[in-house]
Amino acid sequence: MSSVLRIALQKSGRLSEDSYQLFKECGIRFDYGTGKLKSVSSNFPAEFLFLRDDDIPGYVEDGVADLGIVGENVAVETARNVETIHRLGFSKCRLSLAIPRGTDWSGLHDLAGKNIATSYPRLLGNYLRDKGVSAEIHEISGSVEIAPGIGLAEAICDIVSSGSTLLSNGLKEVETIFRSEAILVSRPALAENKQQLVDKLLFRIKSVQAAKNNKYIVLNAPNASLETITALLPGMKSPTVTPLATEGWSSVHSVLNENDFWENIEAIRAAGAEGILVIPIEKMIY
Ligand code: PRP
Ligand code: ZN
Repeated sequence: MSSVLRIALQKSGRLSEDSYQLFKECGIRFDYGTGKLKSVSSNFPAEFLFLRDDDIPGYVEDGVADLGIVGENVAVETARNVETIHRLGFSKCRLSLAIPRGTDWSGLHDLAGKNIATSYPRLLGNYLRDKGVSAEIHEISGSVEIAPGIGLAEAICDIVSSGSTLLSNGLKEVETIFRSEAILVSRPALAENKQQLVDKLLFRIKSVQAAKNNKYIVLNAPNASLETITALLPGMKSPTVTPLATEGWSSVHSVLNENDFWENIEAIRAAGAEGILVIPIEKMIY
C-alpha cells in the first residue's frame, strides 16, 4: 500500500491561498498555480490534488484523497462520510439570507411562501424547518446573487465574507444561518501508515497555529512586583527571571496568548513593568 498521503486542496478560491500558506509554514514544499491538477511534495510523503472545493468531500469519502481542506459550509452541505480532524481558523465566512436593499424586513416569517435561491439547499432547508418557516428553495449552483434581480427569487441564501458581492448586487444581509471556517477532513478509517503521516502533519499544523496565537514577551520588572508580574505570565511552564545589572530589577521572559494580550499587558504595566518587548514566534513546540 502506498504511504504517500493524498491531500485535496481548492484549486482557486477563498481557501486556496491560506491552504498553500499553511503547508509552507509546515515546511512542506510543492508546486502549485501552474495549472497542474496534481503535485508531489519534494520533502514530505504527500501528493496534492487541486480540485473544486465542492467536490473535495466526495473525493475524500471515496478514498481518491486521504485528506482535504474545505469550508465547513461545503462539508456540511455535501453531507459526505468524512471526519473533521482539525479546525484551521482561516477563510471564515457566513451563510446568510439576503433580500433586495429596498425591501422591508421584519423577520424570517417574511419569507413564508417566498422563493429563495441558494447553492446550499440542505443547510437552508434544515434552518427553515427548525424555525418553522415554509418557503420554496431554488437550487442554483452559482451566481446566486443575481436571482432577485432577474425575478427568479425574492431572497437568496449565500456565502458572505466581505459583503462586497451583496453590496454590488443591491442586496442586504438579513439573517445569518451558519458560520464557517476552513477545516481539515479525513477519510474515516485510514491505514496505519497513512495515519502516522496525518499525525505528523497535525503536529506541525498545531505548532504553527500555537505560534500564531502566542507572542514572546520580554520586560524589565522591579523585584518588588515580580510575584504579581510572573503570575500574569505563566508562559509554557513558567517565566524565565534573570537579574538585571541594575540593582533591584529583573528581566522576565515569557509567552503570552494573543487572546489575553491587551488585558494582561495593561495589568503588567500597572504592576510596574518597563521596557516591554513583544516578539512574534515562528514555531511553538509543546
Ligand atoms: C461566495 C459567494 C459570493 C462570494 C461572497 O462564493 O457565492 O459570490 O463568495 O464573498 P464576499 O462577501 O467577500 O463578496 P465562494 O467563494 O464560496 O465561491 P464558489 O461558490 O465558487 O465556491
Ligand atoms: Zn465552490
